[in-house]
Amino acid sequence: MTEKDFISNSLEIANLKEGKFTWKTPSNIALVKYWGKKAQQIPENTSISFTLDACFTLTTLEFTKKKNQIGSFEVYFEGVKKDDFKPKIAIFFERIEKYCPYLSSYDFIITSRNSFPHSSGIASSASGMSALALCVMSLERSLNTKIDDDYFYKKASFLARLGSGSACRSVKGSVVVWGNNKEISESSNLYGIEFPYTIHQNFKNYHDTILLVDEGEKQVSSTVGHQLMYNHPFAQQRFKQAEENIVKIKEILQNGDLKAFANLVESEALTLHAMMMTSNPYFILMKPNTLKIINKIWEFRKETNLNLCFTLDAGANVHLLYPENEKEQVNNFVVTQLIKYCQNNHYICDRIGFGAKLKN
Ligand code: PMV
Repeated sequence: MTEKDFISNSLEIANLKEGKFTWKTPSNIALVKYWGKKAQQIPENTSISFTLDACFTLTTLEFTKKKNQIGSFEVYFEGVKKDDFKPKIAIFFERIEKYCPYLSSYDFIITSRNSFPHSSGIASSASGMSALALCVMSLERSLNTKIDDDYFYKKASFLARLGSGSACRSVKGSVVVWGNNKEISESSNLYGIEFPYTIHQNFKNYHDTILLVDEGEKQVSSTVGHQLMYNHPFAQQRFKQAEENIVKIKEILQNGDLKAFANLVESEALTLHAMMMTSNPYFILMKPNTLKIINKIWEFRKETNLNLCFTLDAGANVHLLYPENEKEQVNNFVVTQLIKYCQNNHYICDRIGFGAKLKN
């Protein structure tokens, strides 16, 4: 599908006065990372992620036909009116207006909450923007009932991408690929797709325990972060490596080789941070406790020969990834040896989920 396929003419089709939709949408954790983008939120390289389950956003979009010319929207987050959230959402609405011209006929009230603490250092833009995109698509489908599920989810992911790149991987499916890689059929730079091959049983119920090493706001916003890849001395090599890693992980996810999985996922995490350390301006987003945890994981793996591995986002928190049949030993390891490195002893137990859900 091309960009033009997402321009709607639904405004003409129905006359809907008011309504509301609620979507629950997950966060996701990238295995092969997206870091660097072109105009229009087009990624420099393909990425792939596990959809999470316990970390989600619940958003209601209420709409009423506009009474006067000037459209408006209000935002409430966890029960509190949040004017400081409006600029990001206003940019999102501006970006998607071309594809959703019916939006200009309505006033909106957006009510949202996260299952995880806002200041936990867990990015909420993926779940937040995908929730909003899905609510918009529910409105579009009420105006044009001919829209089928395939188009609905593709366009939701397309719109979510315009809000926050990785949000397009938080719409549908447990393992999601975003970016055009010729070895992944139907993959696209415009939207995320469900990993289109059979995933090995070893990845069923895969766990992600998030160790909250640093609960503050992100030190480097992803907007700034992606810009660090412009004129980065290693950028082209990195983009090439990511495409090669996509091909490798495609095999791993099918053959269930957990040792190869750990190797690739950890290398991706450290590469992401290496890109930040070698850009200008440069950043170290890991904290001393991040490194302590990583070393503990490596010791633990050596001693037990289990498959626990880690990945990192653009921050200090550590995601522990492990299979279902190792959960008891890993939980014991977390409680006895790792919690002490978490700020306020906080951590979140999550696992691979199934994607967004309509709640009404
Ligand atoms: O979606 P953004 O613009 O917030 O970028 C996300 C970037 C990483 O989380 C670091 C990697 C990824 O692929 O999710």
